[in-house]
Amino acid sequence: MLDRGNNEEAETSFSEAFDPALADGAFHVLDRGGVRHLLPGLNGFRLMEIMRECGVEMPENCGGSVACGTCHVYVDPDWFARLVPAREDEEAMLDQLLHARPNSRLSCQVLWEAALDGLRLTLAPTEG
Ligand code: FES
Repeated sequence: MLDRGNNEEAETSFSEAFDPALADGAFHVLDRGGVRHLLPGLNGFRLMEIMRECGVEMPENCGGSVACGTCHVYVDPDWFARLVPAREDEEAMLDQLLHARPNSRLSCQVLWEAALDGLRLTLAPTEG
């Protein structure tokens, strides 16, 4: 269920690709249409994969090979320093993005772990 037009957060359901019993925490996403989602944290999955599989609208992407930048997110400043730092290839891609900010990350490069429970992200505007 998606929430449009007010500030209430919708709990986005799992796709059949995920077993809800595997959820270990949750994170919040504000998508490019202004819709807020509460998504399950799934150990070992990339944030981009969870968003995509839970139906958050995202453009076709490179599947996590750091070649497209379409999974670009802004991390809530309270959370940014708590993420595993970006590798050199991620930093290089972020440097190419028009809308990059100091709290930018590629969501395909962040693996879920329970310590991220409560994480807040905003999908960055599409490039171009
Ligand atoms: S999915 Fe292409 S860079 Fe993240």
